[in-house]
Amino acid sequence: MSSSNATITVNDGNNRQVAMPVLPGTIGPSVVDVRKLYNETGLFTYDPGFTSTASCESKITYIDGDQGVLLHRGYPIEQLAEQSTFLEVCYLLMKGELPSKAEFDKFQKDITYHTMLHEQISFFYRGFRRDAHPMAVMVGVVGALSAFYHDSTNIDDPHQRMIASYRLIAKMPTIAAWAYKYSVGQPFIYPQNHLSYAENFLHMMFAVPCEAYKVNPVLARAMDRIFILHADHEQNASTSTVRLAGSSGANPFACIAAGIACLWGPAHGGANEAVLKMLEEIGSVERVPEFIKRAKDKNDTFRLMGFGHRVYKNYDPRAKIMRQSCHEVLDALGVRNEPLLKLAMELERIALEDPYFVEKKLYPNVDFYSGIILRAMGFPTSMFTVLFALARTVGWIAQWNEMIEDPAQKIGRPRQLYTGHDKRDYVPLAKRG
Ligand code: CMC
Repeated sequence: MSSSNATITVNDGNNRQVAMPVLPGTIGPSVVDVRKLYNETGLFTYDPGFTSTASCESKITYIDGDQGVLLHRGYPIEQLAEQSTFLEVCYLLMKGELPSKAEFDKFQKDITYHTMLHEQISFFYRGFRRDAHPMAVMVGVVGALSAFYHDSTNIDDPHQRMIASYRLIAKMPTIAAWAYKYSVGQPFIYPQNHLSYAENFLHMMFAVPCEAYKVNPVLARAMDRIFILHADHEQNASTSTVRLAGSSGANPFACIAAGIACLWGPAHGGANEAVLKMLEEIGSVERVPEFIKRAKDKNDTFRLMGFGHRVYKNYDPRAKIMRQSCHEVLDALGVRNEPLLKLAMELERIALEDPYFVEKKLYPNVDFYSGIILRAMGFPTSMFTVLFALARTVGWIAQWNEMIEDPAQKIGRPRQLYTGHDKRDYVPLAKRG
């Protein structure tokens, strides 16, 4: 696989030169294979935040951050968002190819028939406070799935891995919708097999037992598209968390719960909630310059939420589609003049012209517009990150399966640059002054 070498010179008096293989990818940067570095030199590499580190080999998702390109199994995100459906994208991510009609029908049926939760899980919800953040409920309930589905926790059995994967994708909308229902004190709504994945989720979220609920097809399509746009994103923080948790042999439900916990942070999946809070705090177009000024101030911790990305140094391709979807949904709902949208557009306009954001290549990311659509659809802000987790589950699962099947897989165990005390002797409390 290696076509060239990179030579590292260690200036430790002996001027040792160590050749490291350079492994090429299909597209994108090659990597220097440093696996033998420690054995041969006694040195570790140092890369906090992994800004220059490829943690694994993967065939699932490719991102070119400079060009603003996102491919799933080679297919551009724009084509998938426009022409595919979330469940088809799930199949693609998990199995590597687009399904035939027969394969898709079977997959859809398999997922649909796993959407119900063990009834005992409904009592588990009742242990939470009503005002619990739904992400806290998600971490708890998804982690608890391993206590309910013992027959799909043996990670060495490919069939059990597949059943666990289907269960997670299928049950996540039910778990998410119930987290919401619990918080508003409404009865849980059970899944309906005649509805599509997105329709079913909207139904479980917004229906009540006392009247008929008809899913708005424009909203179902927008929901499905939002799911597609969040389905996978290479080795981001939560995906790396899932892989690291899984590398110890932990069961898939525990690993996905770990991913959800990582996603919750405002620098990651929590940003969509933070964007809305920020727009509400800004309040009016007149105050935009004040907040732009704060975002640029090194002594102020405030950041423009929904801007910037570790990988994209260009417009996030998902944000472009989200922006268009946002306009479509607001039109369909007749709320075109939504003040927050106007505010968001003005913020985006000013930031894209400001030298600070231009020089640092800080463009709107996927979270910038998603919150506005979700709010217009009726989701409370606290559910935004939950929707991200719901959609990202397939990416986590696909990456987890890929890791388990990788013959080079071993437990993830980074090392460190130790800068603490050297060895010293314990002083008994009475002698410590
Ligand atoms: N507002 C103001 N300044 C920013 C912002 C921002 N949103 N993002 C980055 N910067 C500045 C940062 O201060 C730094 O400046 P300097 O070089 O002078 O110190 C420079 O840009 C590079 O930032 P960084 O923090 O070193 O970059 P990073 O790759 O570690 O962080 C990020 C990426 C997404 C965490 C960051 O851009 C950020 O906090 N954005 C706001 C939160 C957000 O929208 N997150 C959603 C990411 S997309 C969805 C997902 O993947 O979950």
